[in-house]
Amino acid sequence: MTKKIAGFMVLCMTFFMATSAMAEMPGSNPKELWEHITKTSPYTQWKFWDDHQGMQEGNEPHGSLNKVYVNDKTYNSTSAPFEYGAIVVKENYNKKKKLMALTVMYKVKDFNPKAGDWFYVRYTTRGKAKPYGKPKGCISCHSANADNDYIFLHEFE
Ligand code: HEC
Repeated sequence: MTKKIAGFMVLCMTFFMATSAMAEMPGSNPKELWEHITKTSPYTQWKFWDDHQGMQEGNEPHGSLNKVYVNDKTYNSTSAPFEYGAIVVKENYNKKKKLMALTVMYKVKDFNPKAGDWFYVRYTTRGKAKPYGKPKGCISCHSANADNDYIFLHEFE
């Protein structure tokens, strides 16, 4: 009897742990990630890196101006590589400060070990994702900064 109860409790705990872990971080797919960054943990409430605050001038292909929001896992990573679960959301603006797109990098364990395990996605302002996953374009350019974990705008100290 007690064994059965203990077994049941272990089962329950495993279930709760699994579901809470799932609720915490999205899978490596654009829909879950969009849900996460717009509803579960709205990125506009995240931090900026200390060395990249607010709106800044940027380079092609990302648009003239940008704001880069980072979640806590990203912000708290003090040495390369970033912690798994790190998400970087870059708002891409044109010269007239109109928001054109979001480009996002999300660090997912075992997603793409050859290139820093980053899940890349470009969203329209309405959340339509294209491209996403391991786009050659994003990766080949960001690889120039592979020794800074593929990130351009933040240098580890
Ligand atoms: C031709 C080079 C190039 C390509 C292609 C490119 N990026 Fe970038 N990316 C940059 C540069 C340079 C920056 C630094 C910010 C800036 O200059 O606008 C940057 C910054 C970023 C950032 C902010 C974090 C950082 O690295 O500083 C994210 C997120 C990002 N890019 C995502 C993407 C995604 C997603 C794609 C593909 C859809 C992509 N990038 C394609 C060059 C590129």
